[in-house]
Amino acid sequence: MSDLANDFRHHFMPFTANQDFAEAPRLVSEGKGIRLKKANGGEVIDAVSGLFCTPAGLGRTEIADAVSEQLRTLSYVTSFQHGHGKSFELASRIAALTSGDLDHLFFTNSGSEAVETALKIALAYQTAKGEPGRTRLIGRERAYHGVNFGGLSVGGMVRNKHGFSLSLPGVVHMRHTWLEENRFSRGQPETGAELADDLLRFCDTYGANAIAACIVEPVAGSIGCLPPPIGYLERLREICTQNGILLIFDEVICGFGRLGTKFGADRFGVVPDMITMAKALTNGAVPMGAVAVNIDIYDTLMEAAPDGAIELFHGYTYTAHPVACAASLASLDIYAADNLFGRAAELEKPFLDILFDMQDLPVVKDIRGIGLLGAVDMAPDGAVGKRGYKALKAFFDEGVLVKMTGDSVILAPPFVATEDEIAEMLQKVRAVIESF
Ligand SMILES: Cc1ncc(COP(=O)(O)O)c(C=O)c1O
Repeated sequence: MSDLANDFRHHFMPFTANQDFAEAPRLVSEGKGIRLKKANGGEVIDAVSGLFCTPAGLGRTEIADAVSEQLRTLSYVTSFQHGHGKSFELASRIAALTSGDLDHLFFTNSGSEAVETALKIALAYQTAKGEPGRTRLIGRERAYHGVNFGGLSVGGMVRNKHGFSLSLPGVVHMRHTWLEENRFSRGQPETGAELADDLLRFCDTYGANAIAACIVEPVAGSIGCLPPPIGYLERLREICTQNGILLIFDEVICGFGRLGTKFGADRFGVVPDMITMAKALTNGAVPMGAVAVNIDIYDTLMEAAPDGAIELFHGYTYTAHPVACAASLASLDIYAADNLFGRAAELEKPFLDILFDMQDLPVVKDIRGIGLLGAVDMAPDGAVGKRGYKALKAFFDEGVLVKMTGDSVILAPPFVATEDEIAEMLQKVRAVIESF
């Protein structure tokens, strides 16, 4: 490898303390299954599926073969007014997985772009339906919907907004669903469904006919796994339906089996009007996102356009990139052949059993978990995130990969891990938390 691989000046890293990283870089050089090799020796076990991306594990040859074959046969074609068969095949395959009539897929290159696309489709739909005054978008405190301006506006992770004061006009946020009384709840907390009535209050305050859409993560992921209180999503669905507001589930983390069902919508039995997805869509192998929209939205947009006209003035150069489609089709084949969503459901109990055993550690202030997604909150030590950052370094040093948000340790094991491997990763997590 070139010497430049150790020159840390030029790659401006995302969500990273760049200068500190250069002092003691955390580099990996290889990955197979649930294990990575550190560039300077040693092994890391992956307790967070990369970044919620790789349920089927790293280095899957089926995906590598599909990508390689695609690069040789058709490495690119624009999706603007042209196309290739794999995107249509993939859209049909995903439509068969989504609940209700979410049967039409718009492809993007990331979760952030999927969110922007869903918000724009919501506004376009309301206009096409003859309600152009519906321009308000409703988000939620502590939500993460990516880093572009739409997602940042409806998102509610405060630190991500600092320094970027520009925001979409007309966005308001419902309260988050973390409640003191629900600390150490396993699965969905008992209380808090009434927090969904915040949406009703916005209908009263601004007029329902001013609101286009409400977006939530079924389980808030990046903030540290906040499962919805029992009855909360049902109530949101009811209020949206009664008031002509579109309900968008951002399933960038929950989608493709993370909660032991195809999507979070299935786990909670609530059908939204749109679902955003990314990450596990290609098992993390090639960047790709998508938005599933229901038949009403699709038909309304199609019917509103004059004959031969473009129905939605939106798209990306790499929308439905052939290589991403090939990677996604191969990933869906693996999920089906290995029954990986069923496997995630089977692993939920052993995973949560060990996770919740960490309650006895003095530094632990809360634990939450559902499906193969969980979080352990450590008490802050001074400024929020100071202890968390030290922990992040310690986790890597001790050979386990997790996601830290502030002082919360977030875990999302790959579905191909065995029960013993889940025990192994959580043992390492426990040992590090215990040392604080
Ligand atoms: C719920 C949710 N939405 C959107 C995003 C943004 O996705 P990306 O980082 O691919 O842009 C994420 C990323 O973690 C996410 O968790």
